[in-house]
Amino acid sequence: MTGALDPFLTPIPAAEAGRVGEILAAQYGLAGSLVPLPGERDQNFLLDSTDGAFVVKVANPGEDGAAIDMEQAALEHLEQTGCNIPTPRVVRTIRGERSVPIDAGGAETTLRVRSFLTGEPIKDGSSPRRVGVLAADLQHGLAGFFHPAAGRPLLWDVRSLPLLGDLVELVPESELRSLVGGVLARVEEEVLPRLASFPAQVIHNDLNPANLLVDGSGDITGVIDFGDMLHAPRIADLGVAGSYQVYDDDDPTAPLAELVTGYLERIELRPEELEVLVDLVAGRLCQSVVIAHWRAQLHPDNAGYILSDAAAAARSLATIESSDRAALRAHLLRVAGVQGGPGAGLARRRDRSLGPGLGLSYRRPLRLHRGEGVWLFDDHGERYLDAYNNVVQLGHAHPAVVGAVRRQAARLNTNTRYLTDRPVDFAERLVGLLPEGLDVCYFTNSGSEANELALRIARAVTGRRGVIVSEHAYHGMTGLTAAISPEESRDPLEDWVATVPPPGESDPGDGIERAVAALEDGGHGPAALIYDTVFSSDGIFDPGGDFLNGSMAAVRSSGGLFIADEVQAGLGRVGQRMWGFAGSGSAPDIVTLGKPLGNGYPIGAVVTSRDIAAAFAAREHFFSTFGGSTVAAAAGAAVIEATLALRLPQRADRVGGYLSRRLTELAGRASQLREVRGAGLFVGVEVADGPLAEELVERMRDRHVLIGRTGPSGNVLKIRPPLVFEEAHADIVVAALEAALRGSPLPTRR
Ligand SMILES: Cc1ncc(COP(=O)(O)O)c(C=O)c1O
Repeated sequence: MTGALDPFLTPIPAAEAGRVGEILAAQYGLAGSLVPLPGERDQNFLLDSTDGAFVVKVANPGEDGAAIDMEQAALEHLEQTGCNIPTPRVVRTIRGERSVPIDAGGAETTLRVRSFLTGEPIKDGSSPRRVGVLAADLQHGLAGFFHPAAGRPLLWDVRSLPLLGDLVELVPESELRSLVGGVLARVEEEVLPRLASFPAQVIHNDLNPANLLVDGSGDITGVIDFGDMLHAPRIADLGVAGSYQVYDDDDPTAPLAELVTGYLERIELRPEELEVLVDLVAGRLCQSVVIAHWRAQLHPDNAGYILSDAAAAARSLATIESSDRAALRAHLLRVAGVQGGPGAGLARRRDRSLGPGLGLSYRRPLRLHRGEGVWLFDDHGERYLDAYNNVVQLGHAHPAVVGAVRRQAARLNTNTRYLTDRPVDFAERLVGLLPEGLDVCYFTNSGSEANELALRIARAVTGRRGVIVSEHAYHGMTGLTAAISPEESRDPLEDWVATVPPPGESDPGDGIERAVAALEDGGHGPAALIYDTVFSSDGIFDPGGDFLNGSMAAVRSSGGLFIADEVQAGLGRVGQRMWGFAGSGSAPDIVTLGKPLGNGYPIGAVVTSRDIAAAFAAREHFFSTFGGSTVAAAAGAAVIEATLALRLPQRADRVGGYLSRRLTELAGRASQLREVRGAGLFVGVEVADGPLAEELVERMRDRHVLIGRTGPSGNVLKIRPPLVFEEAHADIVVAALEAALRGSPLPTRR
């Protein structure tokens, strides 16, 4: 991008006023007095003629000729589209050209002429709101404009900030130098990568007060100097404008908020654009400081003019950097109605519009904005390590699933009653992961629906109604599944539901025998025993082969089926064995799946044997409008493919084993931690009591590590991250838990 430096390296041209006058007369038919005007790169004159006042610009020879043409073309475009901002009118030559060649002290360059706009430069900070409105109006005017030179390299482009790295050392004051260096590093790392996806167009890119003219009553009479125009993220215009609204020690909140308010009167902004505005302002101030010092050294004779604004920019930069930038960002988001404090306004709206009882996670709820891999990002761009969401098996926004969903949704999305490849392909892949004999799939939209269907199948096939579950089970929110979820139930269980203890000391066969007897007392035979195979809501237990085999044998001997609810454990979370039930070495009668199957796309599945499916089909119908839809199946197949390709079950063993070992070590030092248990990347840490667990979860959240808790008394920390977790992430979890146990002060917010 060295071209960005060219116009700066070349001195301002020095065409003779006499020669300029001759050209004006011969080619434009204009005559009058010529008075030099200041300029950064061009040589400028004011032409006072009987036809009016004009600005004559002799271009810097280092300037790209195409860029000059763009400037002229843009002004003509604005004039033609009737933009309600007065801009200089392009004066063409008698022959209709936009510019003419001129020799400026031996250098070939061009001369062009524009009408002179009357008015005084707007006073610094006199009305940020008006500047915001103007920026938006100008963007409206330029929205349909393009020119090949709009993509040229330009040092004033915010995306050119990395080019300043080598020039920073030219800033003489060491404190300022390190301030600038720090901002550049931050903006380069955290902001520039985000800009690529922002709305972009040709923008003015130099909305500084010197370029905004007003009349005596303060009305805008014009915008001048389109020389830095380029195709860029539109928010960059506000970054530039904002950099001139921050003064010395004044709080920048009000002027920046006013600027945004003005802009929003005309054009909406996305939250992510608002989030980066403060950093764009800081970045622009760095440009002003560094470029001025560099140019002052290149052109010592013009140093006074060049450095005139640099000192002010340095003071503004110090002001921005010493302000609470997170609070400033939050304020701007609030101004835009995107956020109410830490989500306060949204929380109120949520309370009014979503059903009561649907609590938010964490005392300080998270206002999430996006997710990527194992990270979640809030409205301020703060990131949180997601050690809780097993739905996103492959990590948040995994491109394989996003791409599969996008492509399929664009082509065809319909139900399973047509001959389409996707559901069949998905079913074959899923069956391929399960033991022989589990060959037939039904697709639903959730884990609850999968369990509901599994219970209907078990009842239809056995001709009985009774269901046995673990004492604190959760299996879903539909009619039947809510009834077999003691964890959620406020009422006594129905007489067709009986419970057994989770894995522990006792023989599972004894519990099941008692449960069968209890069902029979109520007049029901057992249709099924259903286990969440990692006993998540019971407090997280890896049941082990003996427990599972004993349970299966007991329920089958009483004529019931065994349903493995793999909604939590399934698809590799518990490691290479792939399924929670797999420790038994034998196959369940029915397997249900949900959460991870679509990496966030809602998919549930029931897999059973051909015989059981046939017996069910003989008695009942099954159809789900959305279950197994073409898009759902594309997502599910992509999840399975990526799970295997990334060897996530193996990783769950490796990283889960590492996490458990490190937590066990910690438990050896911290008496509040009683036991670490679970399997693969489903880890439970039992602590002394529920209130302590709650406090630890909150303190970890404050340290930006997200976990949950479970168990009958809520005293088991639930760690269940996306399977793309690494050892380094496990280290973060352990460190956060250790700090949470000490209750040590929170790290200061960036
Ligand atoms: C073991 C188990 N089964 C079923 C469900 C219900 O799944 P869904 O919320 O997708 O309906 C859950 C949900 O947490 C679960 O943990």
